[in-house]
Amino acid sequence: MAIERREISDEQIQRQEGICREIQQTISASHRPPLAMVDTYGCQQNEADSEKIRGYLEEMGYQFTEDEYQADVIVINTCAVREHAEQRVYGNVGALVHTKKKKPDQIVAVCGCMVQQEHVSAKLKKSYPVVDMVFGPHELWRFPELLQTVMQTKKRVFATDPSQGVIAEGIPQQRDSRTKAWLSIMYGCNNFCTYCIVPYVRGRERSRKPEDIVAEARRLVEEGYKDITLLGQNVNSYGKDLEEEVDFSDLIRRINDIPGDFLIRFMTSHPKDATDKLFETMAECEKCAHHIHLPVQSGSNRVLKAMNRNYTREKYLGQVESARRFMPDLVITTDIIVGFPGETEEEFEETLDLVRKVRYDAMFTFIYSPREGTPAAKMPDPYTREEKQVHFDRLVETANEISAEIHHGYEGKDLRVLVDGQSGRAPYNLTSRTEGGRLVHLQGDPSLIGSFVNVHITSSNTWALFGEVRNETI
Ligand code: 5AD
Ligand code: SF4
Repeated sequence: MAIERREISDEQIQRQEGICREIQQTISASHRPPLAMVDTYGCQQNEADSEKIRGYLEEMGYQFTEDEYQADVIVINTCAVREHAEQRVYGNVGALVHTKKKKPDQIVAVCGCMVQQEHVSAKLKKSYPVVDMVFGPHELWRFPELLQTVMQTKKRVFATDPSQGVIAEGIPQQRDSRTKAWLSIMYGCNNFCTYCIVPYVRGRERSRKPEDIVAEARRLVEEGYKDITLLGQNVNSYGKDLEEEVDFSDLIRRINDIPGDFLIRFMTSHPKDATDKLFETMAECEKCAHHIHLPVQSGSNRVLKAMNRNYTREKYLGQVESARRFMPDLVITTDIIVGFPGETEEEFEETLDLVRKVRYDAMFTFIYSPREGTPAAKMPDPYTREEKQVHFDRLVETANEISAEIHHGYEGKDLRVLVDGQSGRAPYNLTSRTEGGRLVHLQGDPSLIGSFVNVHITSSNTWALFGEVRNETI
């Protein structure tokens, strides 16, 4: 497969930052600080992209609001993975007619995976005049230029060039948290699972250079971040497109060598190429969390083949066994799709059986959603939504039972957790995460946010653990 890679030069990014300063000068003449709102749908990659949009907006002098009636600029960063999220976007964009009536100069931008589909940008153009600006994931790096064009010309801008493979370094980023950071290590996907729209909207796989990633990780650690999640649609194929001989395990080792007390996480791992080398690296690198998100999607070999997943249930179960040999305390999470076209009762039972064998700590379950332009959308599907819902409910029930049992097993144990926020569950006031990413509610001094503490787990339910701080300085 041809590798498409278009590196955006430092000069091009500096030009965008120059435009940010120009915008700042034009808008600073107004009587109050301009406000922007960035609304994000979908995965962590989108969260990371929104942090870059906010980074640019901050350089332009914008402050942030959650109130669409106050915002001078609204950016809606969309997801195309399932139809439900798309419908919510249409609903929310449509509702902006009211805010714009009150604030005629408001600029509305819609970006992200959804608009990279031709039929979506055409619909926004035709039926949503409230939208001033549309740009796909490959155009994010030139958001300042696009915004300035809208401001200067008062004309609508549609930038959804299908040319793919963009890699842009040095975009300013305004991160959501002071404790946890997303770090994209690669973009795009080459796998073409038959149900999935991602490869069509995010383009082919391309990896950032290891030195850029390590430098960013080092900066994050110096700034005090304690939890760094390496992001990619399939991190296990990191480096395959680079000239330098480097793979994902090598990258983990290089990040692990950065001095400091922090955790390395990553997502997502595709089971077709999760190897013992990776499990061994995870076990050997003391900063690497013993957690793997390994989406199985289905427990039926017929369905896995129809999904183009390139592994069997036997291979998957073998990997889980091997991973647990390297890390007996490994936390395993997964994604499962229920109701893939033609999935029979027996095939669904095979998924349930696999779930009972693996015993996932947590699962993300989805009902299959046909995506226009993907091969699965054309496959015959005799089953009704109601039949799929019955399977879905059974799967969720099984997943919840297992999670509750696993959580119960934590009771009475002492664990190291990272305190990451405030809990709304009185009497608990803090939230934290175990190394495996399990949520623990705690009572303690809010100044602990951002620190690792030792906790004693006192109780649990299906979704969370509850504990007491034992020793604040580990
Ligand atoms: N329908 C339902 N779920 C999907 N996913 C991806 N595409 C679809 C679809 N068309 C799920 C997969 C993937 C997760 C991010 O979203 O389980 O791992
Ligand atoms: Fe979609 Fe499959 Fe790529 Fe994941 S690996 S983004 S499910 S095509």
